[in-house]
Amino acid sequence: MSNEIPQRVFSGVQPTGNLTLGNYLGAIRRFVALQEHHSCIYCVVDLHAITIAQDPRELMDATRSVAAAYIAAGIDVSKHIVFNQSRVHQHAELAWVFNCIARMGWLSRMTQFKEKAGKDREKASVGLFSYPTLMAADILLYRGTHVPVGDDQKQHLELTRDIAQKFNNDFSDRIAELGLGVEMEIGREIVNGYFPLTEPLIEGPATRIMSLRDGTKKMSKSDPSDMSRINLTDTEDDIAKKIRKAKTDPEPLPSEVEGLENRPEAANLVSIFGALTDKEPGTVLQEYGGKPFSEFKPILAEVAIDAITPITSEMRRLSADPAYIDSVLANGGEQASAIAAETMRDVRDIVGLLA
Ligand code: AMP
Ligand code: TRP
Repeated sequence: MSNEIPQRVFSGVQPTGNLTLGNYLGAIRRFVALQEHHSCIYCVVDLHAITIAQDPRELMDATRSVAAAYIAAGIDVSKHIVFNQSRVHQHAELAWVFNCIARMGWLSRMTQFKEKAGKDREKASVGLFSYPTLMAADILLYRGTHVPVGDDQKQHLELTRDIAQKFNNDFSDRIAELGLGVEMEIGREIVNGYFPLTEPLIEGPATRIMSLRDGTKKMSKSDPSDMSRINLTDTEDDIAKKIRKAKTDPEPLPSEVEGLENRPEAANLVSIFGALTDKEPGTVLQEYGGKPFSEFKPILAEVAIDAITPITSEMRRLSADPAYIDSVLANGGEQASAIAAETMRDVRDIVGLLA
């Protein structure tokens, strides 16, 4: 068999609340960079959003708003696919098959579930528990080989590989019989599998942007304090104010990276600065080491405003034309459906589901 799985980038963002600087630097900005040399599919994962109760109107607005952010950040929808997950019913269908492949034990170890479910796990939705099998389905429906995400998604991508590997193993004879396999190297073994073992792309200076109020917590859309994050909808004044009020310690910036140890807030501001200016933290400190935060913060604010406001103003312009966004999503959905239908046809055949 000369089948080869072509490289394909897949990633997704949930339409819940406002996008933050963490989403932009950890994910969306990297989606844009990857489109130069890869064929990419970027999804707005609305089915993931409803694992926690959402207001229906807000969900629709947020779905369009994430799509607008993709486009405003520079994703070329004439060359790559942008769509919302629920349009392509095969996501839910493949997720069901994967629910029957993944083990309870695997899912019970997922830290995101533990965090989101909180103390009263009995009250969490079943969807929240099985969320990672849907994520695996998102990626593997397109046989995605590379997935750019922030650091918090690492465990979900490991699970995606475990699911692909177990599926390939459980059905290895059938996959070979149907001639649907692709040779791949796993450890030292060459095996014949249907699904690729996806590579996470978690790299660069911004895989984990922290809260502006607490340098040990992730910057998150769902943090109750709006001062903890920079939203992609913030005005210039908001951004400047949030950076001015960001928590720091009383010491000036160190001159070396080692000096950031045990100073999580200082480390976070330096890595945000580095990510926005494409500089290593060491280089930032060469320039600003010894300066007090009262001097560093206004410069950081200016850099952040310069990077973010062109995107936010383009998002605003796009959001005024929901019909355009809807047409992008519909068109992307059609292209995604064509690929998804093919994969699902194979999967039905492999598993033994009559068409
Ligand atoms: P979510 O908002 O959970 O759908 O996340 C969308 C993408 O943004 C995922 O790839 C996350 O890993 C990434 N992301 C979210 N928050 C951060 C953060 N604080 N720092 C870096 N990446 C983040
Ligand atoms: N779980 C991801 C997050 O919360 C979003 C997501 C859903 C995703 N499906 C995906 C990311 C597939 C990458 C690939 O950020």
